[in-house]
Amino acid sequence: MKTVIRVTGVGRYLPERILTNDDLSRMVDTNDEWIHARTGIRSRHIAADGETTSDLAKIAAENALKSAGLTSDDIDLIVLATATPDLTFPATATMVQEKIGMRQGAAFDVGAVCSGFVFALATADGLMRNSGFKKALVIGAETFSRILDWSDRTTCVLFGDGAGAIVLEADQVDDDVQIGLLGHHLRTDGAHKELLYVDGGPSATQTVGHLRMVGNQVFKHAVVNISGAVKSLLENAQVDHDSVDWFVPHQANQRILDGVAKRLSVDSAKIVSTVGKHGNTSAASVPLALSEAIDDGRIKQGHLILTEAMGGGFAWGANLFRL
Ligand code: UT7
Repeated sequence: MKTVIRVTGVGRYLPERILTNDDLSRMVDTNDEWIHARTGIRSRHIAADGETTSDLAKIAAENALKSAGLTSDDIDLIVLATATPDLTFPATATMVQEKIGMRQGAAFDVGAVCSGFVFALATADGLMRNSGFKKALVIGAETFSRILDWSDRTTCVLFGDGAGAIVLEADQVDDDVQIGLLGHHLRTDGAHKELLYVDGGPSATQTVGHLRMVGNQVFKHAVVNISGAVKSLLENAQVDHDSVDWFVPHQANQRILDGVAKRLSVDSAKIVSTVGKHGNTSAASVPLALSEAIDDGRIKQGHLILTEAMGGGFAWGANLFRL
């Protein structure tokens, strides 16, 4: 027998308010045609005044618990990925712990920006295998609307708010059973900070700051880095990409999804895309897309799933699991 870490529940939450490209065209010098042609985005959700990252994460977490048939009493670990915490500290994960009524275990945040969920999943997997945690919530939750410069058309049209969560459970299975989390590939390169960063922070400026990005440069790195991560992960796991049932990528830009698919010769019908209606929700985008594709029946029990992301840091990576 061997220990496996299985994905047993998924959940998501999107704030009620929808901001369309036409709405944005009344705020900055842009239009639906440019935004859709360059990114695939038509609309995104924006958190209400006073609605925080932990509020979004709480609902996504509760929906994931419900889908796993568990309550917060069963959970002993929360790993939450965010670049938009409610406060500088304590960790947003501990606020979610309190909000869902969880009084045991441990909760902490992981910061890898748009790749946060990929890093959080690998972190939770390691802790569950090596530190005795049995049932975990892994959450990606963001309110990027709070760090956008709403006068900068090159960035404000790209992002949205939301949260996605999954439940992981440790289980014992026969040695030949290939189920649950099967591998991860994590990478960072701190040499490109000026291409994607927030120009504020408690230590440097004592302000929250705004997101700054040289989009076309990030775009080129994204396609190359994501393709490399996927290749490395599949090689290490000795899995052919044709065996992967679904690719669930970070949703930054439809053209990045298409570019990676072309580079890896992946059939675009196997790629889950939600960027059109969510925009780029940073760490929330992978679990949001995963949850949607499981709920609408595309992703089924037994399917082999590959998740991938790239963003600020640069940080990028991929995860492989069988549902
Ligand atoms: O998730 C974290 C990682 N982030 C990403 O992966 C984002 C990566 N980058 C991208 O998705 C794309 O680079 C963008 C969508 C940000 C931009 O698309 P692009 O095809 O790379 O356009 P560009 O930045 O080269 O700009 C082309 C033109 C420029 O005008 P000029 O200089 O050619 O006259 C921009 O000023 O488009 C102009 N432009 C806009 N026009 C209308 C930039 N933003 C807008 C806008 N509306 N919102």
